[in-house]
Amino acid sequence: MEKIVALCKRRGFIFQSSEIYGGLASTYDYGHYGVLLKSNVKGEWWRAVVQERDDMVALDAAILMHPKTWEASGHLEGFTDPLVQCLGECKRRWREDHLRDEQGDGELRCPVCGGELSEPRQFNLMFETHMGPVEDEGSRVFLRPETAQGIFVNFKNVLQFARKRPPFGIAQIGKAFRNEITPGNFVFRTREFEQMEIEFFVPPNDAPDWYGTWMEARMRWYTELGIRPDHLRLREHRPDELSHYSSATSDIEYLFPMGWSELEGIANRGDFDLAQHAAHSGEKLEYVDSATGERYVPHVVEPSAGADRATLAFMVDAYDEEEVEGRQRVVLRLHPRLAPVKVAVLPLVNKDGQPERARAIYEELRGRMPAEYDAGGSIGKRYRRQDEIGTPWGVTVDHQTMEDATVTLRDRDSLEQSRVAIDCLGDELARRLAASWLTPKTSG
Ligand code: GAP
Repeated sequence: MEKIVALCKRRGFIFQSSEIYGGLASTYDYGHYGVLLKSNVKGEWWRAVVQERDDMVALDAAILMHPKTWEASGHLEGFTDPLVQCLGECKRRWREDHLRDEQGDGELRCPVCGGELSEPRQFNLMFETHMGPVEDEGSRVFLRPETAQGIFVNFKNVLQFARKRPPFGIAQIGKAFRNEITPGNFVFRTREFEQMEIEFFVPPNDAPDWYGTWMEARMRWYTELGIRPDHLRLREHRPDELSHYSSATSDIEYLFPMGWSELEGIANRGDFDLAQHAAHSGEKLEYVDSATGERYVPHVVEPSAGADRATLAFMVDAYDEEEVEGRQRVVLRLHPRLAPVKVAVLPLVNKDGQPERARAIYEELRGRMPAEYDAGGSIGKRYRRQDEIGTPWGVTVDHQTMEDATVTLRDRDSLEQSRVAIDCLGDELARRLAASWLTPKTSG
């Protein structure tokens, strides 16, 4: 993980937030390449779950919601983690369930100083704030701890406007906030993060089948975007692990540097949410078939992914070090669809008209795909920079270019170089990008 964190900082993907003030614990900002990478992750999710389906519609609900939402959803009562505090020297706070996993059934001790621990108390993870100038009970609102509830409270609206009938889903990407007791492992667990959630509404009897279908579809999404299949697994929750709303949940886990950990959860939420919001709001939240008159409260299958966690997993899986001609190279073997920059255009030397020619090629290419022009430093150094940000293709303009209008096209993974006519370059890169879709990465 340290190598990933160092690379992220060195190349400006992700870095500590508010650094000039000493940083804010477990809070991170995304720089240029990080923004592009995460945006590609979200774009590929969007493509797979909305654009390429006709049973899904989009939503962007507000972060602040009516406080009754959280009463109905059970978060006010039950969205808690068991907090224990060290009574010894260090006074640190821990999640009892995490310590239990690590230390087993006996008496728990503080992992840092070995001190005794307090009795556990349930700590609510929702961030609270006040709406308007008066801070009283009536103005209390919460930053949403999941985007899902914005979907449930809009079920009726969407049903009216979207002309859909179950099975259909609502997809949303947005920020969520949790006052985690022990954030950590870089962007794996933070207090502010982005979720990519689907609530898929189905006839009650069809929920188990859809639960299976979504598990398969979501596993496939990760492997098609280059995650090695042996670094992914599905783990079904034990009954005592299930959230208050869930009748069955499976986690897609990834082999992160700290071990197998949750990447995405797929839950069968039954009719819990719609029934709760119907009871608390007084609105009927059901589907009525206008032809048959049949009415029912749909059941919900929920694939819920984290955009930051997915971005981290793609980076970890893509990270590679190798020796090339006696020199160490760090390379991010990102799937070309995810790579922040698809092609870098580099003049071999900074003279003889090469920079101008390279710049003209770059300006032509950037209308077709994210491209970068780089003339600073030795050619080796520039390639190393592009390898580290995962750019799949490099184009070098050299003295031969000035004679025959061809360039060298370098492949990030195989390091193969071929000569391509400038006229054909855009089409050749577009062909390679399209072909990469069909051949998921297996090395690295
Ligand atoms: N609506 C269901 C739900 O929120 P969850 O398992 O609590 O389920 C879903 O969260 C996903 O959101 C997780 O699999 C993870 O990818 C991401 N996530 C949850 N808490 C997070 C945190 N503190 N930091 C980063 N990502 C988080």
